[in-house]
Amino acid sequence: MKQQTYTNYMQDQFGFAGEGQLTDFMVRREGELFLGGHLNLNELARNYGAPLEVVYTPQITAQVERMYAWAEVARQANNYAGRFLYAYATKANFAAEAVQTALAAGVHYETSAAADLTIAHSLFQQGLLTEDRLICCNGSKEPNYLAAIRALRLDGAANVTPVLDDLDELDALLDLPAPLQFGVRERAAGNRDGLHPGNDRFGLSDAELRLAAERIAASPHQLVLYHAMIGSQVEDEAHFLATLRASVEGYCRLRRQVPSLRYFNFGGGVPTSGYRLGFSFDYAGFLSRLMATLIETCAAYDVPVPDLIGEFGRYTVANHSVLLLEVGAVKHGQAGQPDWYLMNSSMMVSLPDALLVEGQEFVMLPLSDWDRPVVPVRLAGRRTCDSDDVYPRPHRPPLMLPNSGAGLLVAVCGVGAYQQMISGRGGAHHCLSPEPARIIVSAQGEQLVTRYVPQQDQASIMRLLGYQPRPVPNPRPLRLTPVVVGASGVARRRIQPRPLRLVREAASGD
Ligand SMILES: Cc1ncc(COP(=O)(O)O)c(C=O)c1O
Repeated sequence: MKQQTYTNYMQDQFGFAGEGQLTDFMVRREGELFLGGHLNLNELARNYGAPLEVVYTPQITAQVERMYAWAEVARQANNYAGRFLYAYATKANFAAEAVQTALAAGVHYETSAAADLTIAHSLFQQGLLTEDRLICCNGSKEPNYLAAIRALRLDGAANVTPVLDDLDELDALLDLPAPLQFGVRERAAGNRDGLHPGNDRFGLSDAELRLAAERIAASPHQLVLYHAMIGSQVEDEAHFLATLRASVEGYCRLRRQVPSLRYFNFGGGVPTSGYRLGFSFDYAGFLSRLMATLIETCAAYDVPVPDLIGEFGRYTVANHSVLLLEVGAVKHGQAGQPDWYLMNSSMMVSLPDALLVEGQEFVMLPLSDWDRPVVPVRLAGRRTCDSDDVYPRPHRPPLMLPNSGAGLLVAVCGVGAYQQMISGRGGAHHCLSPEPARIIVSAQGEQLVTRYVPQQDQASIMRLLGYQPRPVPNPRPLRLTPVVVGASGVARRRIQPRPLRLVREAASGD
């Protein structure tokens, strides 16, 4: 029987004939993959080799612009009187090129920690984060985070909005001499559906919400924002809306007591397409139905509709970055098990969420050989010898790829959100797996400009670990001393002991 090809497999499983729009961020033309419809990944692999991290910032612009356009359609369709504000949850990717591209596309800002706000402050001073943008400060606030909020407000950012996670934070901010606008985070939303344990540690109980509102009302400050986040990567739209409905009611109840309240912020949770083929989510429909829910509920409580805010992390950045990895060797699986594709990378360093988040996967596509037979395989990171350095996780079904084996290049998609922030950029990674070369492609007017950062070099990693690399001017080959004939008449070779040296390589950032 003729074996199924990878193209046939894609046709059977996902209705993809082999050419054209493959996902909302990837197109295949003449057998090559184009990120964002424009950036030829096959060509990059030919020019720069693999492993290679590809960063394509125009995809961020596209994501933001699309969402604003869908929101506008939803506003028109519902005659929604409030505005829609897109905030970028910078924790998903703090890289300057990601944050600055999102800002240039018109996003508002969401922070989660002191350092995050320090970046916002610097962007504010440079005029890149303009005064009209809201800066929502979420998370539990340590003293340095509170101090950073105070400093930014005193520097003139009237839209910095601490979203209270605890009443202590209010105590620490009430005496600020400049008027502040506050938000409150509803604790009940965190794990209302029972699917997001860990999320219920954030925010205020109903009683605390009322107390916060009373105390702010008695101060020179204002309560303006109600925050309710139900989870992350929420792909079931009906569930998303049904779970948010109770929070919309919470907003309306508080609005009846607090006339300054004017923003309803549903936080993160809007899903990305980068994690599985066949993904679909009706973003426009979701916003439209959420606006309809707001109109209906606000009418029932006789309060005006709020401005609607979403804080988009994964949705903004997951798909602007792709890893190109190469199968270095194939190792046969145990009897009845798929073969191992040994990758020139570490899967656990590149994709930490595959280990941390139950069921987390990533879209993976071969760059070539779609006409070859498709086989089930498992990927293993060849740059560590860790039994956990495998993808997919052992209890998940194997990956389907062409049977080409060594030399096959695979595009690992959806890696632009959280993965690098969790693994860290620079520094020493597991088994000292070096970070791959990175190519950053961004738009300057109509032009695409490219910046190349070489692979992380060994010497800089060693320095971080406390080794002092010593220059080796002329590394000498190992020399054997002349044969010495011992008293027994048996020839012995003596090897001259030499100190351990580190070989200095071309520098790259650590
Ligand atoms: C308060 C808050 N807003 C937004 C986000 C971004 O979520 P997502 O990546 O699902 O868009 C997060 C993520 O943890 C968050 O904690």
